[in-house]
Amino acid sequence: RMCLSQVVWSLLLAVLLGGALTQVGCLDFNFSTFKNEDMGELTLRNSAIRDKKAIQVTPDLAQDSMKNHAGRVFYKKPFRLWSKRKNITASFITTIGLRITPSPSPGGEGMAFILAADDTLPENSEGQWLGIVNASNNGSPQAKIVAVEFDTRKSYQEDMDDNHVGLDVNSIYSIKQVSLTDYGINLTRNDKVTIMVRIQYDGKEMNVSANTGETEYVPVMSLNLVLSSHLPEKVFVGISASTGNETQLHCVRSWEFHGSKIADEEMLWVWITVPAVLIVFSMIVFYLYWQRRHRVQPEDAYPRIEDQIQGSSMAPQKLKLKELRKATRNFNPKNKLGKGGFGTVYKGFLANKEVAVKRVSKDSSQGKQEFIAEVTTIGSLHHKNLVRLIGWCYERRELLLVYEFMPNCSLDKFIYGNEELGMEEPTLGRERRHTIIYGVAQALDYLHNGCEKRVLHRDIKASNIMLDSEFNAKLGDFGLARTLQQSENTHHTTKVIAGTPGYMAPETFLTGRATVETDVYAFGVLVLEVVSGRKPGNQNEQSDNNNNIVHWLWDLHRQERILDAIDSRLTEEFDEEGMLSMLVLALACCHPNPHQRPSMRTVLQVLTGEVPPPLVPTERPAFVWPAMPPSFKEDAENFSSGSQLSPFTELTGR
Ligand SMILES: *[C@@H]1O[C@H](CO)[C@@H](O)[C@H](O)[C@H]1NC(C)=O
Repeated sequence: RMCLSQVVWSLLLAVLLGGALTQVGCLDFNFSTFKNEDMGELTLRNSAIRDKKAIQVTPDLAQDSMKNHAGRVFYKKPFRLWSKRKNITASFITTIGLRITPSPSPGGEGMAFILAADDTLPENSEGQWLGIVNASNNGSPQAKIVAVEFDTRKSYQEDMDDNHVGLDVNSIYSIKQVSLTDYGINLTRNDKVTIMVRIQYDGKEMNVSANTGETEYVPVMSLNLVLSSHLPEKVFVGISASTGNETQLHCVRSWEFHGSKIADEEMLWVWITVPAVLIVFSMIVFYLYWQRRHRVQPEDAYPRIEDQIQGSSMAPQKLKLKELRKATRNFNPKNKLGKGGFGTVYKGFLANKEVAVKRVSKDSSQGKQEFIAEVTTIGSLHHKNLVRLIGWCYERRELLLVYEFMPNCSLDKFIYGNEELGMEEPTLGRERRHTIIYGVAQALDYLHNGCEKRVLHRDIKASNIMLDSEFNAKLGDFGLARTLQQSENTHHTTKVIAGTPGYMAPETFLTGRATVETDVYAFGVLVLEVVSGRKPGNQNEQSDNNNNIVHWLWDLHRQERILDAIDSRLTEEFDEEGMLSMLVLALACCHPNPHQRPSMRTVLQVLTGEVPPPLVPTERPAFVWPAMPPSFKEDAENFSSGSQLSPFTELTGR
């Protein structure tokens, strides 16, 4: 809008400027009568506007006072008569209504139409000089004046009579004179008749015609004249008059002038430059306007860096709070998908695509740039078993994360038997459960070993495993646990720990730190859940076996009844060896000593059947801290018996 108004302004300016230039270019005026307001357009030299309709070129005074006066009236703006550079001369036509009244009779001296180099009145130009020249410059080229005189008195010998027209160049002695008496025209009259005189010039020839008001113009004089040889390029047009010892009133009743235009070089320059400047100006304005519209939020300290991150097409998009409000219908409770880890998840429509919008609780005092860094790191991870982060938003302390929409919600909705609904039939078959576990293992291996920077998930649990339309597992909420909970940790030291009870490795309660091993532990618990259809229960060393899924399974393992753990709802045939291997693997992942847990690489190998599951002791080893590192490096991957656990001593957890 600002841009538009500026463009309009510029155009207006151009039109005005153009108009003004055109005015300078040619001279055009028409006074059908003279009013006081017209004084502004005229330069009066010893002359005046009288009775609000005429100019008295010489003063209208008491009889004796009227003697020996000269006067001139000019049009204020000069006229461009010719151009040396362009070698052209303008043409003009002017019509003047004259009324010369003798007072008393006979009167003197006369009037003239003049083209002069300046708009002054020469001194001592009264009497016979007609206000055209004076005794000192008469006949000199320095006079720079051309006049068409209407002489009413024979002042000297050269004057043909007291009623003639003459053409004067720098001199009162006319080049050519014609008596008007022959045409029946009398310049001086007492009957208040205005004599109309017309002077035409076409650049070469000057014509003078006159009429008495009632008749057609009668041509009275015509002669060739090169005005440019006598006058400067710019001249002032005017009318002069004088009285001598005989006096009369020299009155101009009307004056019309039309001059042709000679475009100046400067003007040509202006006509080229002004539009060019305007175009450049408009472009700048347009560019600024465009930039304004596409500018990033002013609150961002490092918009460039952010833009670069945003540059890659796969990177999560920075979104506007307004867009997300619209997408979720202002976080309508009806759109709520669930309440998870760090906030509430809403379903939304963004660009006609279903998305899940996670609204993180406002309490987080996380620094914005740090958060953006985290989000973009995570956003750059791509794996078929990771929920894709599409976008994010941080506005007015509101933190929002936009994920791809998972139509089948999370895994926890499907694996636990629902007593209330009396759900007997499991939704997920054995094959499908294996695929889910394998998918999660792949995602976790990618986070731990596959991407540039190791990422810990920190909160693996059934409710964070999302299922797509084909029930493929996708790990969600990865990596954000640290970012979002760090600030809280600073207030509560180590007691508040990232993670969900039931999935937390025993050492977490002591160290408060997430490691690759704590992720593996949580994965083990997840496998047990998926296979057994049981909730993880309370993770406590002292809790009874029925309440802790790991303790319960290890108990079954001791009794060599580990296959009893399999969900009773799974009635279909299954490959016993594969199931056994998976359950033992899960136990190995849940080993109390973090060093004895297999890596995700090994987990994948076991799941594909490439390697046998690690052997686990029949009796669950006690949790010992600090944990003893394994004696040999390879034992970390393939430990075989409880014998290596024997050196554990000292501090026992809890
Ligand atoms: C002057 O008059 C002659 C003859 O009447 C005519 O041919 C010519 O065009 C006129 N010139 C001007 C400048 O009016």
